[in-house]
Amino acid sequence: MATVPELDPPAVAALAQRLMANVTGAVKAPASAVRNTVVALLAEGHVLIEDYPGVGKTALARALARSIDAEYARIQCTVDLLPGDVVGTNVYNQREGRFEFRPGPVFANVVLVDEINRASPKTQSGLLECMQERHVTVDVHTHELARPFLVVATQNPIEHEGTYPLPEAQLDRFMVRISLGYPEADDEAEMLAQHAAGDRVLDLNPVTEVSEVLAAQEAAAAVHASPILRRYIVSLLDQTRSDKRTVLGASPRAGLMLLKAAKALAALEGRDHALPDDVQELAPAVLTHRLLLAPEAVGVSRADVVRDALERVPAR
Ligand SMILES: Nc1ncnc2c1ncn2[C@@H]1O[C@H](COP(=O)(O)OP(=O)(O)OP(=O)(O)O)[C@@H](O)[C@H]1O
Ligand SMILES: [Mg+2]
Repeated sequence: MATVPELDPPAVAALAQRLMANVTGAVKAPASAVRNTVVALLAEGHVLIEDYPGVGKTALARALARSIDAEYARIQCTVDLLPGDVVGTNVYNQREGRFEFRPGPVFANVVLVDEINRASPKTQSGLLECMQERHVTVDVHTHELARPFLVVATQNPIEHEGTYPLPEAQLDRFMVRISLGYPEADDEAEMLAQHAAGDRVLDLNPVTEVSEVLAAQEAAAAVHASPILRRYIVSLLDQTRSDKRTVLGASPRAGLMLLKAAKALAALEGRDHALPDDVQELAPAVLTHRLLLAPEAVGVSRADVVRDALERVPAR
Protein backbone atom coordinates (compact mmCIF):
# COMPACT_ATOMS: atom_id res chain seq x y z
CA MET A 1 0.00 0.00 0.00
CA ALA A 2 1.19 3.48 -0.84
CA THR A 3 2.24 5.57 2.11
CA VAL A 4 0.84 9.06 2.53
CA PRO A 5 3.55 11.61 1.74
CA GLU A 6 4.64 13.84 4.60
CA LEU A 7 4.29 16.99 2.53
CA ASP A 8 1.10 18.05 0.80
CA PRO A 9 1.27 19.83 -2.57
CA PRO A 10 0.88 23.34 -1.07
CA ALA A 11 3.91 22.63 1.13
CA VAL A 12 5.84 21.46 -1.94
CA ALA A 13 4.81 24.66 -3.72
CA ALA A 14 6.09 26.76 -0.81
CA LEU A 15 9.36 24.84 -0.77
CA ALA A 16 9.80 25.20 -4.53
CA GLN A 17 9.13 28.94 -4.35
CA ARG A 18 11.81 29.38 -1.70
CA LEU A 19 14.22 27.29 -3.71
CA MET A 20 13.65 29.10 -6.99
CA ALA A 21 13.86 32.53 -5.35
CA ASN A 22 17.11 31.60 -3.62
CA VAL A 23 18.73 30.29 -6.81
CA THR A 24 17.50 33.25 -8.85
CA GLY A 25 19.04 35.58 -6.28
CA ALA A 26 22.49 34.35 -7.31
CA VAL A 27 22.04 33.23 -10.91
CA LYS A 28 20.41 35.32 -13.57
CA ALA A 29 18.63 32.71 -15.62
CA PRO A 30 15.26 32.45 -17.36
CA ALA A 31 12.57 31.56 -14.81
CA SER A 32 11.55 28.55 -16.91
CA ALA A 33 15.09 27.13 -16.83
CA VAL A 34 15.28 27.40 -13.05
CA ARG A 35 11.78 25.98 -12.67
CA ASN A 36 12.50 23.05 -15.00
CA THR A 37 15.63 22.26 -13.00
CA VAL A 38 13.52 22.14 -9.83
CA VAL A 39 10.95 20.01 -11.66
CA ALA A 40 13.72 17.54 -12.52
CA LEU A 41 14.88 17.53 -8.90
CA LEU A 42 11.36 16.81 -7.66
CA ALA A 43 10.73 14.18 -10.34
CA GLU A 44 14.06 12.42 -9.76
CA GLY A 45 15.22 13.26 -13.26
CA HIS A 46 18.43 14.70 -14.64
CA VAL A 47 19.16 17.92 -16.51
CA LEU A 48 21.07 18.55 -19.71
CA ILE A 49 22.26 22.10 -20.27
CA GLU A 50 23.24 23.02 -23.77
CA ASP A 51 24.87 26.39 -23.68
CA TYR A 52 27.81 28.61 -24.37
CA PRO A 53 30.75 29.07 -21.98
CA GLY A 54 30.41 31.46 -19.08
CA VAL A 55 26.63 31.84 -18.93
CA GLY A 56 26.19 30.50 -15.39
CA LYS A 57 25.89 26.74 -15.81
CA THR A 58 28.24 25.97 -12.94
CA ALA A 59 26.67 28.75 -10.90
CA LEU A 60 23.21 27.22 -11.36
CA ALA A 61 24.24 23.72 -10.25
CA ARG A 62 26.18 25.04 -7.27
CA ALA A 63 23.41 27.42 -6.25
CA LEU A 64 20.90 24.59 -6.28
CA ALA A 65 23.15 22.32 -4.22
CA ARG A 66 23.72 25.04 -1.64
CA SER A 67 20.05 25.91 -1.50
CA ILE A 68 19.11 22.36 -0.54
CA ASP A 69 22.15 21.95 1.70
CA ALA A 70 23.37 19.01 -0.33
CA GLU A 71 26.73 17.64 -1.31
CA TYR A 72 27.98 18.96 -4.63
CA ALA A 73 30.62 17.54 -6.94
CA ARG A 74 31.90 18.51 -10.34
CA ILE A 75 33.33 16.24 -12.97
CA GLN A 76 35.27 17.82 -15.81
CA CYS A 77 35.10 15.46 -18.75
CA THR A 78 38.14 14.86 -20.91
CA VAL A 79 39.08 12.00 -23.23
CA ASP A 80 41.31 10.41 -20.61
CA LEU A 81 38.68 10.42 -17.86
CA LEU A 82 38.13 6.78 -16.85
CA PRO A 83 34.88 5.24 -15.66
CA GLY A 84 36.59 4.63 -12.29
CA ASP A 85 37.31 8.38 -11.94
CA VAL A 86 33.56 8.92 -11.98
CA VAL A 87 32.06 6.00 -10.09
CA GLY A 88 34.95 5.14 -7.77
CA THR A 89 37.45 2.33 -7.45
CA ASN A 90 38.53 -0.37 -5.07
CA VAL A 91 41.85 0.50 -3.47
CA TYR A 92 44.05 -1.76 -1.43
CA ASN A 93 44.33 -0.85 2.24
CA GLN A 94 47.81 -2.00 3.32
CA ARG A 95 47.10 -1.92 7.02
CA GLU A 96 43.82 -3.80 6.89
CA GLY A 97 45.12 -6.10 4.19
CA ARG A 98 42.00 -5.79 2.05
CA PHE A 99 40.41 -3.80 -0.73
CA GLU A 100 38.04 -1.01 0.13
CA PHE A 101 35.78 1.07 -2.04
CA ARG A 102 36.68 4.70 -2.58
CA PRO A 103 33.53 6.38 -3.91
CA GLY A 104 33.82 8.67 -6.92
CA PRO A 105 32.20 12.11 -7.39
CA VAL A 106 28.98 10.52 -8.61
CA PHE A 107 28.13 9.80 -4.96
CA ALA A 108 27.35 13.48 -4.30
CA ASN A 109 23.71 14.73 -4.34
CA VAL A 110 24.15 17.28 -7.10
CA VAL A 111 26.71 16.26 -9.68
CA LEU A 112 27.75 18.71 -12.36
CA VAL A 113 29.18 16.88 -15.34
CA ASP A 114 30.92 19.50 -17.41
CA GLU A 115 31.30 18.97 -21.15
CA ILE A 116 29.93 15.46 -21.09
CA ASN A 117 30.60 15.11 -24.79
CA ARG A 118 34.35 15.27 -24.18
CA ALA A 119 34.36 12.02 -22.22
CA SER A 120 35.04 8.79 -24.06
CA PRO A 121 31.99 6.70 -24.96
CA LYS A 122 33.02 4.17 -22.31
CA THR A 123 33.07 6.74 -19.53
CA GLN A 124 29.86 8.33 -20.80
CA SER A 125 28.05 5.04 -20.71
CA GLY A 126 29.36 4.25 -17.21
CA LEU A 127 28.05 7.56 -15.99
CA LEU A 128 24.75 7.42 -17.79
CA GLU A 129 24.12 3.91 -16.57
CA CYS A 130 24.39 4.92 -12.93
CA MET A 131 22.17 7.93 -13.62
CA GLN A 132 19.41 5.52 -14.33
CA GLU A 133 20.27 2.63 -12.02
CA ARG A 134 21.11 4.88 -9.05
CA HIS A 135 23.76 2.48 -7.94
CA VAL A 136 27.28 1.56 -8.94
CA THR A 137 28.69 -1.92 -9.26
CA VAL A 138 32.45 -2.30 -8.92
CA ASP A 139 33.96 -5.78 -8.81
CA VAL A 140 30.65 -7.49 -7.97
CA HIS A 141 29.87 -5.13 -5.08
CA THR A 142 26.94 -2.77 -5.48
CA HIS A 143 26.92 0.66 -3.85
CA GLU A 144 23.79 2.82 -3.61
CA LEU A 145 24.10 6.43 -4.72
CA ALA A 146 23.01 9.34 -2.53
CA ARG A 147 19.43 10.59 -2.46
CA PRO A 148 18.47 13.00 -3.85
CA PHE A 149 20.68 12.44 -6.86
CA LEU A 150 20.62 15.03 -9.61
CA VAL A 151 23.01 15.09 -12.54
CA VAL A 152 23.37 18.39 -14.35
CA ALA A 153 25.39 17.72 -17.49
CA THR A 154 26.62 20.42 -19.82
CA GLN A 155 27.26 20.28 -23.50
CA ASN A 156 28.75 23.05 -25.59
CA PRO A 157 26.64 23.53 -28.72
CA ILE A 158 29.37 25.11 -30.85
CA GLU A 159 32.55 23.17 -30.23
CA HIS A 160 32.49 19.76 -31.79
CA GLU A 161 36.15 19.06 -32.39
CA GLY A 162 37.48 16.22 -30.27
CA THR A 163 34.07 15.43 -28.84
CA TYR A 164 31.87 12.37 -28.69
CA PRO A 165 28.33 13.64 -29.15
CA LEU A 166 25.94 11.73 -26.92
CA PRO A 167 24.07 9.07 -28.83
CA GLU A 168 20.26 9.33 -28.79
CA ALA A 169 20.02 6.46 -26.32
CA GLN A 170 22.04 8.49 -23.83
CA LEU A 171 20.25 11.76 -24.43
CA ASP A 172 17.01 9.92 -23.69
CA ARG A 173 18.12 9.52 -20.07
CA PHE A 174 17.94 13.23 -19.38
CA MET A 175 14.52 14.31 -18.20
CA VAL A 176 14.79 17.90 -19.35
CA ARG A 177 17.04 19.95 -21.51
CA ILE A 178 17.42 23.61 -20.64
CA SER A 179 19.47 26.49 -21.89
CA LEU A 180 20.32 29.63 -19.99
CA GLY A 181 21.27 31.96 -22.80
CA TYR A 182 22.61 35.43 -22.18
CA PRO A 183 20.97 37.39 -19.34
CA GLU A 184 18.81 40.47 -19.98
CA ALA A 185 20.91 43.65 -20.06
CA ASP A 186 19.51 44.86 -16.71
CA ASP A 187 20.18 41.51 -15.07
CA GLU A 188 23.67 41.35 -16.51
CA ALA A 189 24.49 44.83 -15.25
CA GLU A 190 23.15 43.90 -11.82
CA MET A 191 25.26 40.74 -11.87
CA LEU A 192 28.38 42.80 -12.62
CA ALA A 193 27.59 45.09 -9.70
CA GLN A 194 26.92 42.20 -7.31
CA HIS A 195 30.00 40.35 -8.42
CA ALA A 196 32.24 43.19 -7.36
CA ALA A 197 31.40 42.17 -3.80
CA GLY A 198 32.27 38.52 -4.43
CA ASP A 199 30.60 35.49 -5.93
CA ARG A 200 26.95 35.49 -4.92
CA VAL A 201 26.69 31.72 -5.08
CA LEU A 202 29.17 31.33 -2.25
CA ASP A 203 26.98 33.56 -0.05
CA LEU A 204 23.83 31.52 -0.55
CA ASN A 205 22.22 29.99 2.50
CA PRO A 206 20.22 26.80 2.39
CA VAL A 207 16.44 27.26 2.31
CA THR A 208 15.63 23.63 2.96
CA GLU A 209 17.35 20.36 3.71
CA VAL A 210 17.84 17.09 1.96
CA SER A 211 15.19 15.22 3.97
CA GLU A 212 12.56 17.78 2.99
CA VAL A 213 13.54 17.45 -0.67
CA LEU A 214 13.03 13.70 -0.39
CA ALA A 215 9.60 14.29 1.12
CA ALA A 216 8.79 16.68 -1.73
CA GLN A 217 9.83 14.01 -4.24
CA GLU A 218 7.44 11.61 -2.59
CA ALA A 219 4.66 14.14 -2.74
CA ALA A 220 5.33 14.74 -6.45
CA ALA A 221 5.21 11.01 -7.15
CA ALA A 222 1.85 10.80 -5.35
CA VAL A 223 0.23 13.46 -7.56
CA HIS A 224 -2.76 12.03 -9.39
CA ALA A 225 -2.74 11.60 -13.17
CA SER A 226 -5.96 10.55 -14.87
CA PRO A 227 -6.18 7.85 -17.55
CA ILE A 228 -7.19 10.61 -19.99
CA LEU A 229 -3.99 12.49 -19.23
CA ARG A 230 -1.90 9.38 -19.80
CA ARG A 231 -3.69 8.86 -23.13
CA TYR A 232 -2.92 12.42 -24.06
CA ILE A 233 0.79 11.83 -23.44
CA VAL A 234 0.71 8.66 -25.53
CA SER A 235 -0.96 10.53 -28.39
CA LEU A 236 1.72 13.22 -28.25
CA LEU A 237 4.48 10.62 -28.39
CA ASP A 238 2.75 8.91 -31.26
CA GLN A 239 2.46 12.17 -33.15
CA THR A 240 6.25 12.70 -32.93
CA ARG A 241 6.79 9.14 -34.18
CA SER A 242 4.45 9.36 -37.14
CA ASP A 243 5.68 12.82 -38.11
CA LYS A 244 7.32 12.42 -41.54
CA ARG A 245 10.05 14.86 -40.54
CA THR A 246 11.48 12.56 -37.87
CA VAL A 247 13.34 9.28 -38.18
CA LEU A 248 13.16 8.82 -34.42
CA GLY A 249 10.26 10.01 -32.33
CA ALA A 250 9.83 10.11 -28.57
CA SER A 251 10.39 6.79 -26.77
CA PRO A 252 8.18 5.18 -24.13
CA ARG A 253 10.80 6.33 -21.62
CA ALA A 254 10.21 9.88 -22.85
CA GLY A 255 6.54 9.40 -22.04
CA LEU A 256 7.32 8.16 -18.54
CA MET A 257 9.53 11.15 -17.95
CA LEU A 258 6.93 13.56 -19.32
CA LEU A 259 4.34 12.12 -16.95
CA LYS A 260 6.69 12.29 -13.94
CA ALA A 261 7.70 15.83 -14.83
CA ALA A 262 4.06 16.90 -15.25
CA LYS A 263 3.26 15.49 -11.81
CA ALA A 264 6.21 17.35 -10.31
CA LEU A 265 5.05 20.59 -11.95
CA ALA A 266 1.56 20.06 -10.52
CA ALA A 267 3.05 19.62 -7.02
CA LEU A 268 5.30 22.63 -7.58
CA GLU A 269 2.13 24.61 -8.27
CA GLY A 270 0.40 23.21 -5.22
CA ARG A 271 -2.01 20.82 -6.98
CA ASP A 272 -2.65 17.16 -6.17
CA HIS A 273 -3.51 16.29 -9.79
CA ALA A 274 -1.69 16.86 -13.07
CA LEU A 275 -3.36 18.66 -15.96
CA PRO A 276 -2.88 18.76 -19.74
CA ASP A 277 -1.44 22.24 -19.11
CA ASP A 278 1.42 20.69 -17.16
CA VAL A 279 2.17 18.34 -20.04
CA GLN A 280 2.00 21.15 -22.59
CA GLU A 281 4.21 23.37 -20.50
CA LEU A 282 6.93 20.74 -20.19
CA ALA A 283 6.72 18.89 -23.52
CA PRO A 284 9.26 21.14 -25.28
CA ALA A 285 11.89 20.75 -22.51
CA VAL A 286 11.23 17.02 -22.12
CA LEU A 287 10.76 15.85 -25.71
CA THR A 288 12.81 18.03 -28.05
CA HIS A 289 16.27 16.62 -27.35
CA ARG A 290 15.14 13.05 -28.00
CA LEU A 291 13.99 13.49 -31.58
CA LEU A 292 16.07 12.71 -34.62
CA LEU A 293 15.13 14.65 -37.74
CA ALA A 294 15.03 13.05 -41.16
CA PRO A 295 17.89 14.24 -43.39
CA GLU A 296 15.39 15.61 -45.89
CA ALA A 297 13.68 17.76 -43.24
CA VAL A 298 15.54 20.95 -44.07
CA GLY A 299 14.59 24.19 -42.42
CA VAL A 300 12.75 22.32 -39.67
CA SER A 301 13.83 22.19 -36.03
CA ARG A 302 13.04 19.54 -33.46
CA ALA A 303 11.22 22.21 -31.51
CA ASP A 304 8.91 22.70 -34.53
CA VAL A 305 7.99 19.02 -34.42
CA VAL A 306 7.09 19.19 -30.72
CA ARG A 307 5.14 22.40 -31.18
CA ASP A 308 3.17 20.94 -34.08
CA ALA A 309 2.41 17.81 -32.06
CA LEU A 310 1.02 19.99 -29.27
CA GLU A 311 -1.10 21.86 -31.78
CA ARG A 312 -2.42 18.78 -33.53
CA VAL A 313 -3.23 16.51 -30.61
CA PRO A 314 -6.39 17.53 -28.79
CA ALA A 315 -5.97 17.63 -25.03
CA ARG A 316 -9.22 15.72 -24.44
N1 LIG B 1 23.65 34.14 -15.55
C1 LIG B 1 24.52 34.40 -14.57
N2 LIG B 1 24.09 34.79 -13.34
C2 LIG B 1 24.96 35.04 -12.35
N3 LIG B 1 26.28 34.92 -12.46
C3 LIG B 1 26.77 34.53 -13.63
C4 LIG B 1 25.91 34.26 -14.76
N4 LIG B 1 26.67 33.90 -15.79
C5 LIG B 1 27.92 33.94 -15.34
N5 LIG B 1 28.00 34.32 -14.06
C6 LIG B 1 29.22 34.49 -13.26
O1 LIG B 1 30.29 34.39 -14.18
C7 LIG B 1 31.24 33.43 -13.77
C8 LIG B 1 31.24 32.26 -14.73
O2 LIG B 1 30.01 31.56 -14.62
P1 LIG B 1 29.92 29.98 -14.60
O3 LIG B 1 31.20 29.40 -14.14
O4 LIG B 1 28.71 29.57 -13.87
O5 LIG B 1 29.73 29.75 -16.15
P2 LIG B 1 29.68 28.37 -16.95
O6 LIG B 1 28.52 28.48 -17.86
O7 LIG B 1 29.73 27.24 -16.00
O8 LIG B 1 31.01 28.46 -17.79
P3 LIG B 1 31.90 27.29 -18.44
O9 LIG B 1 31.22 26.92 -19.73
O10 LIG B 1 33.22 27.90 -18.67
O11 LIG B 1 31.93 26.15 -17.47
C9 LIG B 1 30.87 33.03 -12.36
O12 LIG B 1 31.61 33.80 -11.45
C10 LIG B 1 29.38 33.35 -12.26
O13 LIG B 1 29.04 33.71 -10.96
MG1 LIG C 1 31.18 25.78 -15.73
